[in-house]
Amino acid sequence: MSVKTAGLEKATVSNHLGLEHEAMYHLSVSLNNLLSDYHIFYQNVRGFHWNVSGSDFFDLHVRFEELYKELSNDIDELAERIVTIGYKPLHAYSDFLTNTTHMEVKNVKDGKQCVNHVINGLGMLIASQRKVAVEASHAEDIATTDLLTKFIVDLEKRLWMFTMSSK
Ligand SMILES: [Fe+2]
Repeated sequence: MSVKTAGLEKATVSNHLGLEHEAMYHLSVSLNNLLSDYHIFYQNVRGFHWNVSGSDFFDLHVRFEELYKELSNDIDELAERIVTIGYKPLHAYSDFLTNTTHMEVKNVKDGKQCVNHVINGLGMLIASQRKVAVEASHAEDIATTDLLTKFIVDLEKRLWMFTMSSK
């Protein structure tokens, strides 16, 4: 093997899926950060579901449940994508708290405040997903790009609905 060939092979070393190894490592870190964001936001929405009170209780209680169920589904698909590309998904809340940009929200029960927190959290989550989707695209990981795009489409629709309900 010539030096030139060896150098080329090193520069394009692929993983078991045929994707560039180093790019996929960096992507796995980004995906675990996203998984951490998802978990903290998910738990915040569960708190809103349990604690919301007032005249909008029946509606918001149901809407928050719909949202946290969707987040839960996304979480599972995201974690299994991390495994599929060859890495370990974080699963301890201590790790999620270290790697998230979201804050835990406690002791909120007012419906409008809960909705505002949901709008803010959805906006943060979608912004992070867009960045990671672009990173996955640059790494030619079309499946991860497609998965995140699907998440973004659904969460943008929910963001639109919660935004309309707050006006
Ligand atoms: Fe419930």
